[in-house]
Order: sequence, then C-alpha cells, then structure tokens
Amino acid sequence: MFDVKKIREDFPILGREINGQRLVYFDNAATTQKPQAVIDSLVDYYQNYNANVHRGVHSLSMEATDKYEEAREKVAAFINAESSDCLIWTRNSSESLNLVAYTWGEKNIEEGDEIVLTPMEHHSNLVPWQEIARRKGAKIRFIPITSDGLLDLTEIEKIINDRTVLVSVVHMSNALGTINPVKQIATIAHSRGAKVLIDGAQSVPHIPTDVQDYDCDFLVFSGHKMLGPTGIGCLYAKKEILETMEPFMTGGEMVLEVTYEKASWADLPMKFEAGTPNIADAIGLGAAIDYLNELGMDNIYSHENELTFHAMCKFFELQSEGVELFGPRDENLKGGVFSFNVPDVHPHDLGTVLDNMGIAVRTGHHCAMPLVKSLGVAATARASFYLYNTTDEIDVFVDALREAIRYFRHGS
Ligand SMILES: Cc1ncc(COP(=O)(O)O)c(C=O)c1O
Repeated sequence: MFDVKKIREDFPILGREINGQRLVYFDNAATTQKPQAVIDSLVDYYQNYNANVHRGVHSLSMEATDKYEEAREKVAAFINAESSDCLIWTRNSSESLNLVAYTWGEKNIEEGDEIVLTPMEHHSNLVPWQEIARRKGAKIRFIPITSDGLLDLTEIEKIINDRTVLVSVVHMSNALGTINPVKQIATIAHSRGAKVLIDGAQSVPHIPTDVQDYDCDFLVFSGHKMLGPTGIGCLYAKKEILETMEPFMTGGEMVLEVTYEKASWADLPMKFEAGTPNIADAIGLGAAIDYLNELGMDNIYSHENELTFHAMCKFFELQSEGVELFGPRDENLKGGVFSFNVPDVHPHDLGTVLDNMGIAVRTGHHCAMPLVKSLGVAATARASFYLYNTTDEIDVFVDALREAIRYFRHGS
C-alpha cells in the first residue's frame, strides 16, 4: 500500500510552516524535496569516508569509489540501461544536452541537415540546438501541437524525413504536463535514419523508464527533480554512440595516456568525466534511487495519476471562476503539472498571495518562453505534484486559489 502519510514523515521539510501555515509544496517540476535517507547519505560521505575517487589505494578512497560507482549502477538499472558504462554523470539535464550538442552534434550535424523538436521544449532542449544549427547551417523543425497541448502527429512522416539527423523530444512537458509518445516517435525517427534524444527531466522521476524499450539513443535527466541532491545529472547514451563521440571536456581522470604532445582517452564512462566528480551528490542520487525503488515506480505513477485526476476535476469546477487551464484535459495523457491563468490577475501576484497562505507554486514562463507566448499569455502559474503530495493538499490549494481570486476581484 502507498502510505502517503508515512512517506511524508521521511521528508523533514514537509513539517515546516510558511507564513504561519503548513507548507503545501507544489513546485516539484522545478525541484523536489529530499527524504532524510538522501540527506543522511550526504552527511555519511562527508563524515565517514570523504576521499577522492579512482585515485587512491588507501581505504577511504576505495570506499568512496565503491559507493560512487555503486550509485552509477543503481541509476543505470533504474532506467534499464544495458550497462552502467552508458551512464555519464553531469551536473544536470542542461549539461547533458549541451554535452550531446557539442560532441555528437559537432561531428554529425552538417549544413542542410534537420533537427526535429517539439514546441513544448524546455529552453535546455531548444537553445543548444539553435546554437549548433546556427553554427552548422542546419534547420530546426517542430512537430506541431494541438490546442490541447498534445503533439499532432498527422504530418509527422513529412516533418521527420531523410534530412532529419536528430529528433529531440521532451517526454513530459514541464509547462503543460503533456506526456509524449516517445517510443512511437523513436520508431519513426529510426526508420529515417535519425537519432533520438529524450529529455526525461520530468518523466524519469515520475514514470517507470526503460531506455531499451524506448530504443532511444540518448536520455537526459536531473537528480534534483527525483529526490536527489542538486548538482548531479545524467546522460544515458547507447554504448556504440558514446564510443564514437569526442570528449566534452578534457583534463584529469578522463585520459588513458598522456605525453607532452598528446593524450588518449580513458574507457567509458570516464572519457566524459574530466576532473574530480561530484562524488557526494552522485552517492546522494543513489540513495534517492533506493528510496524510489522501495516505493516502486508503478506505485508512484498510480498515486500521482490519482492526484492528477483529482486536480483535473477541481480545475473543471474552477472554470466557472474564469480559471484557464493549459494543456491536456485527460489525466492519462499528462502528468501532475497544472499550468493555469486567472484573467486580469498577474501570475506573480497570484503566486505571492498563495505563498502568504503557505502554498508554493511557480509563476513565469517556466523556461518555455515560446510555448507560453503561443498560449497568448506572458506567464502562467504552475502547480506540480510529487509522490508526497495528497488530494487534501490539492483541496487546500483550490480553496486558497478561490480566496485569492475573490481578493483580487472584490478586494476582500
Ligand atoms: C523538461 C525539462 N528539461 C530540462 C530541464 C533542465 O533541467 P536542469 O535545470 O536540471 O538542467 C528542465 C528543468 O526544469 C525541464 O523541466
């Protein structure tokens, strides 16, 4: 049984009061809270076996190396990677995307080539491709979306064509919550000889992930959005692709042999990990993976699906107050991300009033500026859920939203 009450006890911050109210944390698409087990794992490393990895013959270094590599194995297994050699540590999804753009992209994208994206990409999966397209004379094309924020695949066979070298799509949109059919897109892309990158920043924390089933060539995600520490992220890529890629950064740790003239590269995954890595946070992410596995990703998805259904029903009721919801209207086509707008009330003002009531939501363009502009607004307010949220919290949020609307419209 998925016992949310018990789960919440593992997250010290959820006991906090904000502005005299019990915290309702609905900014999980930005970053998630950390269970005690993750916090403890960081303290344990610094307190008991702090040492550099892969370098020492002394016990502390070997212990740190074992725990650090164990974390890599856990993360690789979590996404069903064929080998932990295919799992590269980065700082976050943004760095993983830049790594692919600057190494694989530099070598494989040429003038006249096409890169296919969706209009709902986070800037992290848009700007690096804009930059490489500009440098190389390549073109970016977009799979259109419907007014409900779903991908419109009717013309996909024309958009993904023989000029396409890469299809890079977000699995779950951070702005609309849309869950995209990545497996279907990967099949079409591969039939045209294109590579497929999945931005899993919002999906890996919430949906069971299987890179072999998706048959994606690359997957990126961030530790901090899945209970792990900030500063640790991941790039998965198929081994045969990683082997053909040049290093992103060079220096210590990533070399095999060095002379005063030249160097040769270490085997995977170290070829892509120059310098002392983020040891503590990789270990912390390993602890987060243990926690998620203990709960079970299927159970986490089911719980969040219930939250999404509950919130969807509430947002239908809120339509009578003029609240506008963006994105899919079906809880099976989206995750727990609700972007909304109250006419004549700026989202920042709404966010501030909700904060006064202890409720944390995000307001702004959510690093998806072109998408939010296409919705006809400059910003939205966004409530996003995670495994420790409850339907009661959604009710508290909806009541607070009603009160805020009353306040803005009638001043009381
Ligand atoms: C869909 C998506 N992709 C990429 C990113 C970038 O993640 P990070 O800031 O951890 O690099 C985010 C962050 O919100 C995101 O939601």
